Amino acid sequence: MLDTLKTPRLLLRRWRDSDRLPFQKINADARVMEFMPEQLTPEASDELFDRAESHFIQHGFGPFAVEYLEQNAFIGFIGLSIPNFDAPFMPAVEIGWRLAFDYWGRGLATEGARAALGCGFEELKLKSVVSFTVPGNFRSRRVMEALGMTHDASDDFDHPRLPEGHPLRRHVLYRISR
Ligand SMILES: CC(C)(COP(=O)(O)OP(=O)(O)OC[C@H]1O[C@@H](n2cnc3c(N)ncnc32)[C@H](O)[C@@H]1OP(=O)(O)O)[C@@H](O)C(=O)NCCC(=O)NCCS
Repeated sequence: MLDTLKTPRLLLRRWRDSDRLPFQKINADARVMEFMPEQLTPEASDELFDRAESHFIQHGFGPFAVEYLEQNAFIGFIGLSIPNFDAPFMPAVEIGWRLAFDYWGRGLATEGARAALGCGFEELKLKSVVSFTVPGNFRSRRVMEALGMTHDASDDFDHPRLPEGHPLRRHVLYRISR
């Protein structure tokens, strides 16, 4: 079970009930959710929390709750998960992230994701990992690039959960191999 990781500034850990409220706030923040189809209601945020915990139980790894060590504060999630939709690049393991707005721009996503990716390769023995977002999410793409992930336009895809014509339907795919 890959359920805790420490970096110089972050604790990546399993989810606690006390994370529910701050996670609801993150998921209701229009700035954080700019490239998502919608801001989440508290109920939808809790469902995402529950899915993250279930992922650990089912697969032995998952999207970590992220704690900023200096403040002992829950600030979002970073980690590996198996996408729950079908796409040309599936089956695959994805790396993803979502942090509270106040913590952006300090290299925290890159720091946490680098640790999660390293464990994915070294402990879980994954052969490759993907990441995806909409073309305009340059912050997220910069994190992917900082991790050494590469983008091949022939991998780009339409997200099957979004209807045709939806402005967020097109996605860029990044890959990295062990
Ligand atoms: C994506 C996200 C996790 C990045 O977190 P972060 O801790 O600020 O990321 P980092 O500081 O490690 O790196 C951000 C990079 O983006 C760059 N960046 C910041 N604003 C940018 C912009 N407007 N355009 C391009 N690059 C930008 C930063 O310079 C940095 O790159 P650098 O390290 O080369 O300087 C955070 O912005 C977030 O939670 N966004 C909302 C959720 C989201 O979009 N998740 C991904 C969905 S697939």
